[in-house]
Amino acid sequence: MTPVLGIIVVAAGSGTRLGAAEPKAFAALRGVPILERALRGVFDSVEPAQVVIVAPSSHLKAARTIADRVAGAASASVSVVAGGDTRQASVAAGLAALAPEVATVLVHDAARALTPPALVDRVVRAVRETGGGVIPALPVTDTIKRVGPDAAVLGTVDRSDLVHVQTPQGFPRAALDAAYAGAADDHTDDAALFAAHGGAVTVVEGEARAFKITTPWDLRRAENVLGAQTAGLRVGTGVDVHAYDDAAPLWLGGLYWSGEPGLSGHSDGDAVLHAICDALLSAAGLGDLGSRFGTADPRFADAAHEGEGLAHEDLAGGVGFEVVNVAVQIVAARPKIARRRGELEARLSGLVGAPVTIGATTTDGLGFTGRAEGVAALATALLTASV
Ligand code: CTP
Ligand code: MG
Repeated sequence: MTPVLGIIVVAAGSGTRLGAAEPKAFAALRGVPILERALRGVFDSVEPAQVVIVAPSSHLKAARTIADRVAGAASASVSVVAGGDTRQASVAAGLAALAPEVATVLVHDAARALTPPALVDRVVRAVRETGGGVIPALPVTDTIKRVGPDAAVLGTVDRSDLVHVQTPQGFPRAALDAAYAGAADDHTDDAALFAAHGGAVTVVEGEARAFKITTPWDLRRAENVLGAQTAGLRVGTGVDVHAYDDAAPLWLGGLYWSGEPGLSGHSDGDAVLHAICDALLSAAGLGDLGSRFGTADPRFADAAHEGEGLAHEDLAGGVGFEVVNVAVQIVAARPKIARRRGELEARLSGLVGAPVTIGATTTDGLGFTGRAEGVAALATALLTASV
């Protein structure tokens, strides 16, 4: 059945004030794009909806990939369209993509990445109850002053009837279509445009978590909100040891080390990658490399070059965890890690999709590492339940 609710998620801005390398909606918030987090809130709301993502024309494919990941089986009900030069033009592009059956429409900023699903439900309900526009609002808590051009304070504004407003903003579809069709000026939000064309707008209670990520400080705030949810944190450890094999090339930490003795093993002997994989699997409660794939598994033989993604894919795909960080300690007489530490950390962080830090030590001549018989690697991984 075609949904009668449409949700337009505008993500076509460039994010000038955030200043990330990518358009804001595609910047990572604790390892997950801002758009993806916003869509999770939308898809966790109660009613099935036609979701229209409005993306920069350079990022239509990236938006589609994110949509498919979040929507799963419902991904057929998600459209991706290109936005315009202004937010208003982007919303208009989203409206044009709605199915004829849609009777209630919500417009939502992707930049409000942590908006709880309950707010979506609240706005939808209120639009149907009132038959008009509905916007989430929170009271203004700071004292508000009017200030002149010379920095002189002109007066204090009575804030008792002031609110600041958020998205999603909801409207009867036909009335919003009509308002957009007749819009000549640029308005700062959809409710202002709607009201300028005679529509009535009321407020429902907003949510602190629905704040908009605009500046780098906002992004840090969002990271901290997510980080404070420690209930879902899981730690895991992994250890791997391989003996030196003078006849083999050395692959360690996903890097090739020329002129160094290699490591023996059923696989490439990359003790660092194996320790990381085991730490990730351990944290996720998924066993370990040996029990999952068996040391004779051909995929395991190429671990350094391709197979290292195995554990990570398992984590990302369906299990519902994200990697917060991984710390690795390498215990070995050779190779000397320090001169390539930065390179190692960059390579491994890229593979894992989260910061990986490397420490290294020798053992003062003691034990197998002291006698330079092999390499040991210990990894600790921290995961968080996807939130
Ligand atoms: N937006 C859009 N199309 C535009 C401009 C904005 O779809 N031409 C979207 C943004 O992607 C964002 C929301 O509208 O989700 C709110 O806009 P804002 O926070 O201002 O985002 P940006 O315009 O990307 O940021 P900036 O103003 O700092 O460049
Ligand atoms: Mg903007």
